[in-house]
Amino acid sequence: NLFDFGMIGLGVMGRNLLLNMADHGFSVIGFDKDETKNSALESSATPGTTVKGVSELAQMIQLLQRPRKVMMLVPAGQPVDDVIASLLPLLEKGDVIIDGGNSHYTDTLRRVKYLREKDIHFMGIGVSGGEKGARTGPSIMPGGDKEAYAHVQPMLEAIAAKVNGEPCVAYLGKEGAGHYVKMVHNGIEYAIMQLISESYAILKKAGLSNQQLHETFKSWNDGDLQSFLVEITADIFLQKDDKTDAHLVDVISDKAGSKGTGKWTSQDSMELPVAVPVIDTAVAMRTLSGYKDERTVAAELYGASNAISEETQVLIEQVHDALYFATILAYAQGLAMLYQASKDLQMEIPLTDVVSVWRGGCIIRSSLLSVFTDAYKQTPDLSNILLNQEVAALVKSAEGNTRSLIAFAAQSGIPAAALMSSLAYFDAYKTAYMPTNLIQAQRDYFGAHTYQRTDIPGTFHTEWGQQ
Ligand code: 6PG
Repeated sequence: NLFDFGMIGLGVMGRNLLLNMADHGFSVIGFDKDETKNSALESSATPGTTVKGVSELAQMIQLLQRPRKVMMLVPAGQPVDDVIASLLPLLEKGDVIIDGGNSHYTDTLRRVKYLREKDIHFMGIGVSGGEKGARTGPSIMPGGDKEAYAHVQPMLEAIAAKVNGEPCVAYLGKEGAGHYVKMVHNGIEYAIMQLISESYAILKKAGLSNQQLHETFKSWNDGDLQSFLVEITADIFLQKDDKTDAHLVDVISDKAGSKGTGKWTSQDSMELPVAVPVIDTAVAMRTLSGYKDERTVAAELYGASNAISEETQVLIEQVHDALYFATILAYAQGLAMLYQASKDLQMEIPLTDVVSVWRGGCIIRSSLLSVFTDAYKQTPDLSNILLNQEVAALVKSAEGNTRSLIAFAAQSGIPAAALMSSLAYFDAYKTAYMPTNLIQAQRDYFGAHTYQRTDIPGTFHTEWGQQ
């Protein structure tokens, strides 16, 4: 009896995705050189499901039904190329290789082309949802070869998270589109995490205890801020440390880690170019969090700012609205990036499907994604969701409190760079006249870079300062 699906790399994500497939009636086989991972796979399988782990790649390939469907979940970069090299002598025309890791889309593009020449289908697929999501229903972002997608579509639809019965997976575009969409997903993830951490900083400074922080975030999650990240934030404030009697969050170092996908979003936004300053700020704040020693010296040197007092209940409402406002701005920037990339890189990314796939299973799932799904259904070619009437109404409803909160944070010396950046972007985006006419004048003054006029068509240069 041949198996339906093979997995290379039985780490946390590979093992759980495979077990999820088995739970949905597919017979699955996994390969890992590490024998302990093979036995961990088999022993954690649901009784009655067909799951096998092997430590010889050739053995797994022989045991797969044709066309073979093989996914790899190995670290991005060289390991992916190494696995492809070891697979090539074992595969036949028409077989499908899927990279389910967080690969950079340019690598995926290269691999799609390389393998197409060898008549092997290659797909880059973004998978979000962490360990639990992989086992019970992730959000899946496939891109690449459409013919190959048809082979794996039934399996991916079976294992994906469901929202109103609809699977959180859809074909999201050509070539490297799946990994591109996952990269931008992670950029938005960085932005929202940063915005939540700034909201936490303000509320903590206002004197809220961990219990009160828990209650605040929990009530927000029951309202229009409903999202996975707000939900887990509420939980985090209750977690007790098992080494001391402190709350765990209070003993965790403030140096934040990162594996690079947020940085890639910023880097690629500049290549296009598209302005995503909330994401850029989130990446920069993780970097700044690493300057622990310098920050400690600077804290001594500059001292604390005078805290401005504000009625706590009023402040909580302002933080709620500012987080809501800035979260919409973070999505807007990421989605505007996908809109531009889809056109410039010829990936044909269907934004309606992207936001629909993100409604369940992934780290950035939230009730806002249903609002965005409706917006794209109305206008599929929407360059920025801020131009949608319903989204505009939500943004406007939170604007006043966002301004008050940001003024409060600035006067109180509480770092809130991403919240501030969202408002700064908003104010620039909704300005018909930016002061960049002056920049054009300066460029022409010192470099003869020329400028366009508002009243006469054409390109002009002036010998400045000679009057
Ligand atoms: C997901 C996550 C997942 C992971 C990233 C980001 O969608 O399930 O995005 O892919 O958390 O690797 O991790 P860093 O914060 O370490 O960059």
